[in-house]
Amino acid sequence: MRRLSLALAAGLLAMSSPLGAAFADPVDDKLIIDDKEMITRTKAPEGHPFEEVLSGWLFREAETRATEADSFANPGMLAVERGQEIWNTVDGTAGKSCASCHEDASVSMKDIGARYPKWDAKANKPINIELQIDKCRTENMGAEAYKFDAEEQVALTTYIKHQSLGTPVSVDLKQGEMQTWWNKGKDLYYTRMGQLNLSCSNCHENSMGKFIRADHLSQGQVNGFPTYRFSAPAMVSLHNRFRGCIRDTRAEMPKAFSDDLMALEVYVTWRGLGLSVETPAVRQ
Ligand code: HEC
Ligand code: HEC
Repeated sequence: MRRLSLALAAGLLAMSSPLGAAFADPVDDKLIIDDKEMITRTKAPEGHPFEEVLSGWLFREAETRATEADSFANPGMLAVERGQEIWNTVDGTAGKSCASCHEDASVSMKDIGARYPKWDAKANKPINIELQIDKCRTENMGAEAYKFDAEEQVALTTYIKHQSLGTPVSVDLKQGEMQTWWNKGKDLYYTRMGQLNLSCSNCHENSMGKFIRADHLSQGQVNGFPTYRFSAPAMVSLHNRFRGCIRDTRAEMPKAFSDDLMALEVYVTWRGLGLSVETPAVRQ
């Protein structure tokens, strides 16, 4: 059933005729979380395919939007709490917790998550929050790196990103070779893949605003990750989402944190420059 409807959706997208998928504008609404107004629309940076970048929140249904706006109702806040617990828990041979060195995350991690991915000179590649956590665990705690999508990895990433709630997303392309990774990410974004022969841009750029499988296509922004998804129902990390979108084209999925997905993360983060971090966002 699922495959059939996807193929159908792809057909509709490819037609892009007046008979194609139904279109609906993103809503005109304000997102206020904990009394802070989020930037859900902002002018796109130079060289961007859109004039305005739009948060995925604007494309969701009223109930989903309301759940994100209410921190008491947002199930993603449980991951924030869990992250705080891990932050304060000793692990590894050095007998330290994150808090042993970084103390109060609301101070030491404030706005940090909004500036990732960052260039890591030692690794000679960009890293995201998940990989920075692993760096601290292996280099500073004598603990093991987390397995991809381990519950602790997702919760701790959510906790750190949440300390940037409301802060505009930025990415410094002047660090190291970030520009080269941006270029590689851009190439990938526009490359058609899988049996359905679709690129990220076919869905999130050319078909933005259309409906596929009862899902309203957004610009595919990353500012809410990790996000709580009702359909899972669970927290979903960014590389999990990337992999899911790639799987839906029926292409082979690159590994999480592979060079391909890191390049995509650099480029797609840039496509959402200036949007507020919404972690944990709520999606369907
Ligand atoms: C022994 C001290 C120590 C412990 C324990 C430690 N860190 Fe760190 N952490 C550092 C140092 C030093 C840096 C800066 C250098 C670097 O980037 O590695 C850092 C950097 C970071 C950064 C990047 C900050 C920035 O400005 O970009 C994050 C995020 C972070 N740590 C998270 C964690 C988390 C989460 C834990 C627990 C799993 C943890 N750290 C445990 C010492 C520590
Ligand atoms: C077949 C169409 C399709 C393709 C191709 C596709 N996606 Fe998606 N993607 C979706 C749908 C549907 C959703 C959920 C609704 C939405 O937010 O657009 C989604 C959601 C997302 C989200 C989450 C947005 C949010 O606000 O939570 C990101 C990020 C994303 N996609 C990135 C990508 C990237 C990167 C690629 C290329 C590797 C890609 N997508 C390819 C259909 C697609």
